[in-house]
Amino acid sequence: MLAGLARQGVELPSACQAGACHTCLLRAESGDPGEDGRRGLKPTLAASGYFLACQARPVTDLRAAVAGPDVITPARVERRWWLGPRVLAVRVRPRQPVEFRPGQHVTLHRGNGIIRVYSIANRPGQARRDGLEFHVRVYPGGQMSEWLAGAAPGTGVGLGVPAGHCFYLPGQPAAPLLLAGTGTGIAPLLAIAADARAAGHRGPVTLLHGAAEPARLYLGEHTPPGLAGAGIRWRACVQSRGEDIAEAAADELAAQPDPAAARAYLCGGRGSVTRTKRALFLGGMSLASINADEFAPAAAS
Ligand SMILES: Cc1cc2nc3c(=O)[nH]c(=O)nc-3n(C[C@H](O)[C@H](O)[C@H](O)COP(=O)(O)OP(=O)(O)OC[C@H]3O[C@@H](n4cnc5c(N)ncnc54)[C@H](O)[C@@H]3O)c2cc1C
Ligand code: FES
Repeated sequence: MLAGLARQGVELPSACQAGACHTCLLRAESGDPGEDGRRGLKPTLAASGYFLACQARPVTDLRAAVAGPDVITPARVERRWWLGPRVLAVRVRPRQPVEFRPGQHVTLHRGNGIIRVYSIANRPGQARRDGLEFHVRVYPGGQMSEWLAGAAPGTGVGLGVPAGHCFYLPGQPAAPLLLAGTGTGIAPLLAIAADARAAGHRGPVTLLHGAAEPARLYLGEHTPPGLAGAGIRWRACVQSRGEDIAEAAADELAAQPDPAAARAYLCGGRGSVTRTKRALFLGGMSLASINADEFAPAAAS
């Protein structure tokens, strides 16, 4: 449906175009958008007529509207500070609590139809206390990121329904966990690693923080203070130093006492996520054990 509308000159906001990010969420006012568009949605959303335009193949004539206030929680920018060159931490306080699982992402709405997806960097308890935290790479001219960099505390935004399947599932507490994130892709992985430990995960946990050059390693070379003491191995991979995150992930997998039991979480740019997934697969992991979120840029605003 998204592609069909684009062919008719109607550009809807979208990012992943794979049913993962929920940027293209619409609500059917009449007609049936078909089952494909509802797959992966929370049952309550699907039952309220919501569907994902990038996946939908309507089976009847359809009248649809953009996601309304029933699924967008009003919120305010509470605090923002620089974590490193061009990476901003933004805390957003929703008017009412937003339920999510550590590692999920949410759409951020700034008005005028400008919607972008950001992964939540903290855990639900912290988010209830401090607001939801996002790590945002600021792109020159970025309609959302540059705007956020200048948004004064108190600025109103909207938060969509948290989505994504990249989160910790208890059940195999001794399994090695490999988490690899390039750029701000490390943000949701911090929350997943902390959540695993809090849930009693006792297997080895390794976090790989990838960047193109040392200055872009915004969380640094060593385990951040919040994770120190949780027994989490931290490895920085800087491309300009010849350190490749996909190769590093494969090395870490091979070094595990039980590689076949390992589970992986990958976040960040499409290229690095794809290469790391391939390297882990070739290293013996099944695709079912690899959870990935690609930070695809938005296609339209
Ligand atoms: C599932 C998911 C999770 C995401 N989580 C995060 C997150 O936690 N933190 C975060 O910073 N971003 C995240 N993103 C990306 C985010 O949604 C926006 O795409 C990004 O912030 C740029 O939006 P913008 O409005 O600032 O830039 P835009 O106005 O959309 O683009 C401005 C210019 O910036 C450049 N640009 C934009 N995005 C990229 C990119 N990804 N790579 C290279 N150049 C780019 C392009 O040159 C573009 O012309 C996520 C995306 C997805 C799909
Ligand atoms: S879910 Fe449709 S663009 Fe991401």
